[in-house]
Amino acid sequence: MQKSSSPQLIPVTAFDLVVFGATGDLSLRKLIPSLFHRWRDNQIPPESKIVGVSRSAMGDDEFRQLALDSFRKHHPSEAIDDGEWREFASLVKYVELDAVNADADWGALKDALAGCEDKQRVFYLALAPGLYGAVSANIDRAGLKSPGARIVLEKPIGKDLESAHEINRAVGEVFSEDSIFRIDHYLGKETVQNLIVLRFMNSLFEPVWNAHAIDHVEITVAESIGAGMRADYYDTSGALRDMVQNHLLQLLCLVAMEPPLDLEPDTVRDEKIKVLRALRPVTSENVRYATVRGQYGPGASGGEAVPGYSDELGAQSDTETFVAIKANIDNWRWKGAPFYLRTGKRMNARYSEIIIQFRDIAHALMRDGSDLPPTRMVIRLQPDEGVKMLLVTKDPGPGGMRLRYVPLNLSYADAFEARYPDAYERLLMAVVRGDLGLFMRRDEVESAWKWVDGILQAWQDDKTPVHPYAAGTEGPVQSAMLLDRDGRAWFDGKSA
Ligand code: BG6
Repeated sequence: MQKSSSPQLIPVTAFDLVVFGATGDLSLRKLIPSLFHRWRDNQIPPESKIVGVSRSAMGDDEFRQLALDSFRKHHPSEAIDDGEWREFASLVKYVELDAVNADADWGALKDALAGCEDKQRVFYLALAPGLYGAVSANIDRAGLKSPGARIVLEKPIGKDLESAHEINRAVGEVFSEDSIFRIDHYLGKETVQNLIVLRFMNSLFEPVWNAHAIDHVEITVAESIGAGMRADYYDTSGALRDMVQNHLLQLLCLVAMEPPLDLEPDTVRDEKIKVLRALRPVTSENVRYATVRGQYGPGASGGEAVPGYSDELGAQSDTETFVAIKANIDNWRWKGAPFYLRTGKRMNARYSEIIIQFRDIAHALMRDGSDLPPTRMVIRLQPDEGVKMLLVTKDPGPGGMRLRYVPLNLSYADAFEARYPDAYERLLMAVVRGDLGLFMRRDEVESAWKWVDGILQAWQDDKTPVHPYAAGTEGPVQSAMLLDRDGRAWFDGKSA
């Protein structure tokens, strides 16, 4: 087992981070715990400040306790010492404020930040996207936008191209593009970062990374959880907007893009956007062949009976909780090698993986070849992070040429001794450092919406049905048929 080389524990400069929506799920479940972890690793200088802002009436201590309770709930196996927490919590303050309201009294927030204009200031909007424009304007009006201040916007940026455009315009009136950090937390995941290294720092792959050698690519982000408490929000979104427009398209871009000249943020983002622009539009003519919508009904998860989506929502709805898409990238590299994307809630397991399936061998020496599995590369993003090459080998020993499909296995857990920081830990530090490479540029978000809008429109025109699937399964049967029509099947790992 190897120790990871030179861990990135270089302290950032002192900062003031203002989290709007501080009592919400994202802030308590992800942001504060991530900041605690970075603080514990000595990356956050003690002069830094974390100011939680929300409309709830409470004091500093009450907010700190809320944050600690949430930390314990979400990290039950992590021992946390009271003294250690107290020290971290001394950086945390709370301000009660309705930030959407320009006429509200912004005095307490001004006081909390007074005299710190020369520190790196970051505003994190853990709020509904419809509020981004108003809150940005209010920050400006309150005179809080210090020189070099940055703003962080959570996905989704809008619910379609038009709303994304409007949000980007409104925020852009206050903050320049290079101070806007649009989060897609998948870009902060260890294994997603590794995609670039794997593809471009190994000479083996580039010559075969194209439709001549690759039959197709599968990208699956399966979740075992349901919409649950988020059902009200989720119902306005659905799997296409919630997951495909951002996470899955970002993964697709990283797999499909041309080699960038360097790793400068704009060089990489320029390459990603070319992929988005090359996505063949889905129209009402081809939508039934290119997409499948599904919604979970009652079923079982983790051995327990769970309700269906409409029961959780308390209403009938035709929002999709599962989507599968055949995406074609119309460029020289990928013509003829489709990308099959699928994501869903309440599937049979939680896993994200990318399968690169290579073409069949040209000529089988031993038998007709039709039952020989193809070479596959399995990039497992979570959990059990790792990369496998699935190869046909000779089963050792006497008994003739018996073949076996075995993995050449790089399991992160076996190979490296490291804790994988939560994506938000990396992203928050990247904001303070001003590293835009892990964030989405305005044109990237808008290009992704343009393609997704086409699908939404086609679903509407075609009245594309939402197929039911039982919770705890692989999604509706139509998802298998999407590939079956092309003589392919989702790789389920069973043969590996
Ligand atoms: C979020 C979606 O962006 O990503 C959620 O809004 C989803 O619906 C989540 O559950 C999945 O993230 P992860 O890191 O658990 O794969």
